[in-house]
Amino acid sequence: MTDDGGTAAGDRGDLGAITSRLRAAGCVFAEEEARLLASSAAGAALARLVERRVAGEPLEQVVGWVAFDGLRVVVEPGVFVPRRRTELLVRVADRLLAGRAEPVVVELCCGVAAVSAALLARRPGLELVAGDLDPAAVRGARRNLGDRALVVGGDLLDEVPARLRGEVDVLVANAPYVPTAAIATMPPEARLHEPALALDGGADGLALHRRLAAAAPGWLRPGGVVLIEASERGAGATAALLTAAGLTAEVVHDDDLDGTVVAGTRPLI
Ligand SMILES: C[S@@+](CC[C@H](N)C(=O)[O-])C[C@H]1O[C@@H](n2cnc3c(N)ncnc32)[C@H](O)[C@@H]1O
Repeated sequence: MTDDGGTAAGDRGDLGAITSRLRAAGCVFAEEEARLLASSAAGAALARLVERRVAGEPLEQVVGWVAFDGLRVVVEPGVFVPRRRTELLVRVADRLLAGRAEPVVVELCCGVAAVSAALLARRPGLELVAGDLDPAAVRGARRNLGDRALVVGGDLLDEVPARLRGEVDVLVANAPYVPTAAIATMPPEARLHEPALALDGGADGLALHRRLAAAAPGWLRPGGVVLIEASERGAGATAALLTAAGLTAEVVHDDDLDGTVVAGTRPLI
């Protein structure tokens, strides 16, 4: 018997019906999603999850987690769902941290802090500060990081402890970079269920990148690196902002992840 009094055979029957409903609602991976939903709840609770998914809520917000860099990261309704392409930020940051003694990492625009959680899983001793302007994201980040990191709420670096100025080895950010006018063309899952604050990069998509480029040099130690996720098309413009701020810029792209990261290194002297 399930919690709600259903039988296993009944649940198997449900699976076919759920798959059909999801397919009719336009879910491309209906069968896979049905299995995931059915493994998350049963009976009336499962029916409520199916309704939410059919109404267009992202699957990850419905089941409450997303797979990211081998972890299960908690995701609540109304927050940005970490994307697989952002695993490139983790890989590049992890490579840069190798061999650094007692490194300090700051993640800005952290959302639910998937990048920080992945870095801490790879390097448990890391000193890490994560921050976001959205209180819902800050709550999610605290759930995912617990007492392994300091999580602050505020605009970019405003609430990051001042003692870290000039001490940061890696400053990492997947900040919003969708040009305002392009938000209307995004899939409804993003447009309707993720906050505009998480998507809107201003008229040219570079508003936050411009501010990050201006602020980063003052927080990086010599040889420290700022890593910013960008679109493949927008990466050149972000690299130019970092170069203009006195950093040595490089664009890294990964075809498998379809991810792009712009790195800006503070010169040693
Ligand atoms: C594209 S989402 C990325 C979230 C997370 N880094 C990830 O990859 O899952 C951008 C995040 O930036 C945050 N944000 C937007 N403007 C901000 C600002 N001025 N200061 C701090 N965070 C900001 C949003 O609340 C959102 O959580």
